Amino acid sequence: MKKIIIILLLFCFILPLAFGELKVGFYESSCQKAESIVKNVVKSRFNRDKTITAALLRLHFHDCAVSGCDASILINSTQSNTAEKESGANFDVRGFDIIDEVKETLESACPSTVSCADIITLATRDAVALSGGPQYEVPTGRRDGLVSNINNVKIPGPSSSVSVISQFFNKSLGLTTQEMVTLFGAHTVGVARCSFFDDRLSSPDPTMDPGLNAKLVKLCSSRDDNDPSTPLDQKTSLLVDNGFYTQILAKKGVLQIDQQLALDQSTRGFVTDIASNGVKFQKNFANAMVKMGSIDVLVGNQGEIRQKCSVVNNHS
Ligand code: HEM
Ligand SMILES: *[C@@H]1O[C@H](CO)[C@@H](O)[C@H](O)[C@H]1NC(C)=O
Ligand SMILES: *[C@@H]1O[C@H](CO)[C@@H](O)[C@H](O)[C@H]1NC(C)=O
Repeated sequence: MKKIIIILLLFCFILPLAFGELKVGFYESSCQKAESIVKNVVKSRFNRDKTITAALLRLHFHDCAVSGCDASILINSTQSNTAEKESGANFDVRGFDIIDEVKETLESACPSTVSCADIITLATRDAVALSGGPQYEVPTGRRDGLVSNINNVKIPGPSSSVSVISQFFNKSLGLTTQEMVTLFGAHTVGVARCSFFDDRLSSPDPTMDPGLNAKLVKLCSSRDDNDPSTPLDQKTSLLVDNGFYTQILAKKGVLQIDQQLALDQSTRGFVTDIASNGVKFQKNFANAMVKMGSIDVLVGNQGEIRQKCSVVNNHS
């Protein structure tokens, strides 16, 4: 009898604590339709615009990489506070309107129940699956943060070395080098603006395929005042697949950091491994996304459930 009680205690109290109180199906009793509402909004957006997967993946990463996955990236600046959104690293991060649409739908179904941080996580998960990526369960129960400050944004840029980026993933995010390489697989979708890679063009970067170089020189010199963009995965830029790794092995990485992953000793092995095994990529990508989505989350009665994702609730 004693043993059973101890085991029960373990399951009810100690294990949930160990997983930060996130759990799959967190909203099952409080808002049964939460996950299907998110999925429906994402699906109807996706049917009009296949690039939302890229938007949400980058938004999710840039949320989790700054003070954890607490939806701090969604908060607007105020007269007295400059928010994360204004940071150069967040230039052109998009998808805010999708999150707002999901939130509005959820607020009318289940007021003040589903966090903006969970909405980002679930919407990204659903978009990945729609783009041919893995289908996976994500634990929920995140709470929304109260702080968003531009000075907290310390995401390294695309011309940083593999060692700087690995250190950031290790020390700031608690992710391994293998998980980092796997998450860079998100660059299998989406685009980059010339301003993020044109330093590789003026005197041609020898690590770039000459054909790609010529194409990008042409693209980027055609600009007047605007900043044109090109797919990060030049072959299958709307599909979540392992094609990105094949591309960087063929010197067709657009960003310097993407190309370096295929060249640096510490990452090359992971790149060749995932490039040759699409099934393994899908499995590893799902696991790494779940882990990224658990970085420094707020749970229990920490933070709040924001009513509008772009402003903290009024606490007066
Ligand atoms: C520190 C590591 C990383 C660096 C330096 C980096 C850098 C960049 C840059 C410079 C762009 C182009 C942005 C633009 O032109 O608007 C970009 C786009 C993108 N990044 Fe990353 N990235 C990193 C990690 C990640 C991770 C971990 C994910 C997701 C798991 C991710 C997902 C994306 C996606 C999906 C896009 C395309 C966005 C779009 O089309 O709107 N990135 N990244
Ligand atoms: C936050 O800023 C966006 C874009 O500037 C704007 O569309 C939105 O209405 C703002 N949110 C609120 C609640 O004011
Ligand atoms: C971070 O790096 C240290 C030192 O190399 C290592 O012991 C630790 O396991 C790494 N952490 C992760 C999550 O990879």
